[in-house]
Amino acid sequence: MGIILGLVVAAVTFHGAAARQIEVGGDRAGWTTGLQYDPVNATVGTSLVFKYARGQHNVVQVAKPDCTFANATQVAGLTDTPFNLTLNHPGTFYYACSVSGHCDADAAPKAAAKAPVPAAASSVQIKQPTTVGQSKCAPPVLVPETNDTFHVSCLSPGVPLSPGQVANNYYTLANPYPSKVVAIVQEKSQIVDGTGRAVPLSEAYAHHFFGNARFVVAEGAELRGTEVKEPLPQPYFQLVNGTFFDDPANRRMNIHLINTLGVGPEDIARCIECWCDTVAAFQQNYHGGTACCSPNDCPTPRAKEPPTVYYLQYNVSYRDPQPIPDLIPASPVLLDVVNGSVEYDVFAKGPGSVDTRNLTAPFDQQCPQVAPFGLLRCTGHQHIGGICMEIVDTETGHVICTSCSVYGNSTSADTPGQEKGYLVRMTDDTIVPPYPLQPGQKVTIVSKYSADDKHYGVMALWILTVTNWDPTCPGGALAKNTPAGSFDVYTTFAGPAGGAVTNATAH
Ligand SMILES: *[C@@H]1O[C@H](CO)[C@@H](O)[C@H](O)[C@H]1NC(C)=O
Ligand SMILES: *[C@@H]1O[C@H](CO)[C@@H](O)[C@H](O)[C@H]1NC(C)=O
Ligand SMILES: *[C@@H]1O[C@H](CO)[C@@H](O)[C@H](O)[C@H]1NC(C)=O
Ligand SMILES: *[C@@H]1O[C@H](CO)[C@@H](O)[C@H](O)[C@H]1NC(C)=O
Ligand SMILES: *[C@@H]1O[C@H](CO)[C@@H](O)[C@H](O)[C@H]1NC(C)=O
Ligand SMILES: *[C@@H]1O[C@H](CO)[C@@H](O)[C@H](O)[C@H]1NC(C)=O
Ligand SMILES: *[C@@H]1O[C@H](CO)[C@@H](O)[C@H](O)[C@H]1NC(C)=O
Ligand SMILES: *[C@@H]1O[C@H](CO)[C@@H](O)[C@H](O)[C@H]1NC(C)=O
Ligand SMILES: *[C@@H]1O[C@H](CO)[C@@H](O)[C@H](O)[C@H]1NC(C)=O
Ligand SMILES: *[C@@H]1O[C@H](CO)[C@@H](O)[C@H](O)[C@H]1NC(C)=O
Repeated sequence: MGIILGLVVAAVTFHGAAARQIEVGGDRAGWTTGLQYDPVNATVGTSLVFKYARGQHNVVQVAKPDCTFANATQVAGLTDTPFNLTLNHPGTFYYACSVSGHCDADAAPKAAAKAPVPAAASSVQIKQPTTVGQSKCAPPVLVPETNDTFHVSCLSPGVPLSPGQVANNYYTLANPYPSKVVAIVQEKSQIVDGTGRAVPLSEAYAHHFFGNARFVVAEGAELRGTEVKEPLPQPYFQLVNGTFFDDPANRRMNIHLINTLGVGPEDIARCIECWCDTVAAFQQNYHGGTACCSPNDCPTPRAKEPPTVYYLQYNVSYRDPQPIPDLIPASPVLLDVVNGSVEYDVFAKGPGSVDTRNLTAPFDQQCPQVAPFGLLRCTGHQHIGGICMEIVDTETGHVICTSCSVYGNSTSADTPGQEKGYLVRMTDDTIVPPYPLQPGQKVTIVSKYSADDKHYGVMALWILTVTNWDPTCPGGALAKNTPAGSFDVYTTFAGPAGGAVTNATAH
């Protein structure tokens, strides 16, 4: 795991015996994170081949061997893999991945100073993203007035951020569960600082948290107000195999936080929606979102202040499933209104106008079920501008469930959980008995955003709780292995046929 430097230096000359085609990172590793790329000696006409996980990286030619992306030009987009770049001019060229967190801003300039330009032969240092301490959980405590329910409070590793800085890294979180199968009673999380202070979104904007759907589910700014795993009506329980999470590889989580202290109101949307600041990205119809998050978007006069260390505080309570009479297991399933693309853009269409997206597909498209199943709870995930999401029974037009965006109503943006102007909660719908769905039955998922103003890189994800879901399906109660650096997200509408785990990119 880890997001490290992705920067390659190509020194191109007219003469020499360099290879005519060079696979960056070799044919096995390719263009990825966690590697140190050796400088490349090439002659005019040499091709650099960049092979990367589709949707996860890009190739940007940078003016200097650093990660500021000043005067940078994107040469290959997220989906252009494999990308064949022919070097047509002599000179020294630098390539980096501009996906947030993939190029290490601290390591590169120091190395660049050592590098004899234009020979650029010295290699660039690898540096792990800085964190403070390790993730840890307090010992379980019995919840008062119960004799069987335990509460565990945990903290992610500390994420130090100065004003204007962005963190978008993978972290290994401590396991809150005992090494057995438990029934989840409740889950709550929030952003705190080192003193345990609840930090408002106007200070540390929670862009998203994304990990194994059975561990801690995908959420973002709405995490304080939305209890995705609030108690389900009995006898429904989500079961978690704590033993599975003994393996740290299964507890990786992508945490994306932005310190917005001092960022002016005119720059806030640009900063927290991560607008792309290269023309090339715009030409590729990717205007903002995870791949474009950079401190360039968040100018603040406070940038020189020392960092504050932020933590994701994640609490779970669980109980032993054995004594629960007639327990019915329920499973998390994620759906995406843009069919696994995860992010989309909303363009301004005038006051009062609404951008509506919808997608119709069999609910179980990715992991065909053999038996009827039921939709028990629907919780959406939208970004600022979101209005509501719906799931409609395509055949009958019946609206099965609705989840709406709730905005902070405090007079100030500094009230944690009620931050004025921020999306602080998604409402949820719980359907008892669960809405019955047949294998192959189609649903239409709908997402509505306000189009009063533009909103780049928005999302419309459903975080659903489903009964009688095949437990071998990804997103089912029992997890499959999560590959390093990928998301174990099951989007029924996307990914390879047959219900394999989709390495979706995030919000
Ligand atoms: C690239 O060229 C430099 C300078 O001539 C040389 O020191 C270095 O070994 C070469 N690297 C490779 C990988 O051929
Ligand atoms: C960007 O390019 C322009 C024109 O080539 C140059 O004047 C400017 O200094 C460059 N900016 C940076 C930060 O390199
Ligand atoms: C890359 O382009 C060059 C020049 O067009 C070509 O010779 C080479 O075969 C291409 N390589 C790949 C992997 O497509
Ligand atoms: C726990 O409490 C329930 C009632 O709330 C009771 O029926 C049960 O016997 C108790 N179990 C233990 C182990 O004390
Ligand atoms: C998590 O649990 C701790 C300790 O019980 C508590 O102080 C904190 O407020 C809880 N956080 C949330 C988000 O519920
Ligand atoms: C829980 O996960 C462990 C480790 O992946 C696995 O060996 C075990 O079979 C699982 N238990 C159940 C009940 O599925
Ligand atoms: C889905 O969108 C199409 C047009 O894009 C519209 O005609 C249709 O009514 C929408 N369906 C729902 C359920 O919103
Ligand atoms: C503000 O929002 C909270 C929770 O969403 C709600 O309980 C409260 O009534 C609201 N207050 C006002 C004045 O609207
Ligand atoms: C969604 O994407 C999958 C995989 O790319 C494709 O097979 C499917 O047809 C798409 N579904 C819709 C409704 O566009
Ligand atoms: C997900 O990532 C793993 C490891 O990188 C890879 O083996 C697998 O093919 C990827 N799956 C998809 C659907 O891209």
